[in-house]
Amino acid sequence: MDQSVKTLVALDTNVSYDMIQAALPVDTSIQVVGMIEGLDEAWSTLQETSADLLIVACGGYSDRALYLIEGAVRQKPSRPVIVLTQSSPNGFVRRVFEVGADDVVVLPETQDGIKFALQKAMARKSGSTGVGSLATAPLVVVLGPKGGTGKTLISTNLAVALATRGRKVALVDLDLQFGDIGLTLGISPERTIYDLVKSGGTIDGDKIEGYMTEHASGVRALLAPSRPDQAASVSVELLRDVYSTLRATYDYVVVDTPPGFTPEVIATIDSASDVCLVGMLDSLSLKNTKLGLETLDLMGFDRDRLQLVLNRAGTRVGITNDDVRTIIGREPDVLIPSDREIPRAVNEGQPIVLAKPGSEAARAFGQLADRFMDARDSNGAGPARRRSLFARKG
Ligand SMILES: Nc1ncnc2c1ncn2[C@@H]1O[C@H](COP(=O)(O)OP(=O)(O)OP(=O)(O)O)[C@@H](O)[C@H]1O
Ligand SMILES: [Mg+2]
Repeated sequence: MDQSVKTLVALDTNVSYDMIQAALPVDTSIQVVGMIEGLDEAWSTLQETSADLLIVACGGYSDRALYLIEGAVRQKPSRPVIVLTQSSPNGFVRRVFEVGADDVVVLPETQDGIKFALQKAMARKSGSTGVGSLATAPLVVVLGPKGGTGKTLISTNLAVALATRGRKVALVDLDLQFGDIGLTLGISPERTIYDLVKSGGTIDGDKIEGYMTEHASGVRALLAPSRPDQAASVSVELLRDVYSTLRATYDYVVVDTPPGFTPEVIATIDSASDVCLVGMLDSLSLKNTKLGLETLDLMGFDRDRLQLVLNRAGTRVGITNDDVRTIIGREPDVLIPSDREIPRAVNEGQPIVLAKPGSEAARAFGQLADRFMDARDSNGAGPARRRSLFARKG
């Protein structure tokens, strides 16, 4: 570790302060900024300190520890969490990883053993030791509560518009059953995310490249399985690995989603730094867009990291901008007009931003790309700030 890592240690009630203090490595690279007895107290301290690493020490199975880990990971995904436990009752280790911890060390363990676990976790999240400075690329998830609103159109054109601005872009088709990024971009899948699942083993930047397909614009796409029955084998854990790997090697990761808040979509929102919420200009779609916004609020997603896109805007349907504001409570950020060239471009497998770069629609996609680039410049690339669900429980 190059710099000293500010480490906060949270102690559950059934674990001895002295024992944990003695177990911790004495090393200049690790600076313990606090050893807090009680996990609620530790949570409060975590809000006030700028720890780079969190150690949660517990005697054995502990729901409070799981809540704390979950809250801490949600709040700052780049900060590693290591669990020290005196026993590992059935299912506890699995739960600890499920809620997002980076490693579990069962005590007793030597100081060197613990130091190694800490170093490993820091190295995995490399580049993220500085407070708030996250080296990962933005991950933009394109959402629409209802089908057919234009999510795939927007994901593909956003990805290509970012690529034409010189950015290295990965596009992930999360519509695992009926994904059509391949068709929309006119690329045929030699390998898909399903082949990546079947390959087994750990995912790294080199490996994942072998499963992506390149489009002429330079966008590289991780395509959806070719058959709907293959979708079930793509787990949320695999998706998390895919996202963190892509975010380490690309400038932008854009994710197209199926309609609705499926478990995969929720997991992607949890990993995302930015959301592009897509609605259309009719009262039913606007009602669903409002529900989508409320769901994102409940998940604690920061509205500053959300771009609201209204597709097929300008169609004369008797809904004005004022109506939009009244129904959904905010102005749309970008309006994409209806354009007869769009279905044609889709059928030809040519994104409209390349097929008709001068069209109003292409310019709107360019504007959307610029907004994400501006958001990155002003807010940093890191995950959005989120309210903690844990805080409400405690
Ligand atoms: N602004 C537009 N002008 C003209 N046609 C459009 C526009 N937006 C979308 N379409 C057409 O509407 C259809 C649905 O768009 P798209 O596939 O992008 O929606 P989706 O939200 O991804 O749908 P699904 O929920 O099924 O994945 C496509 O055929 C597309 O060409
Ligand atoms: Mg789609």
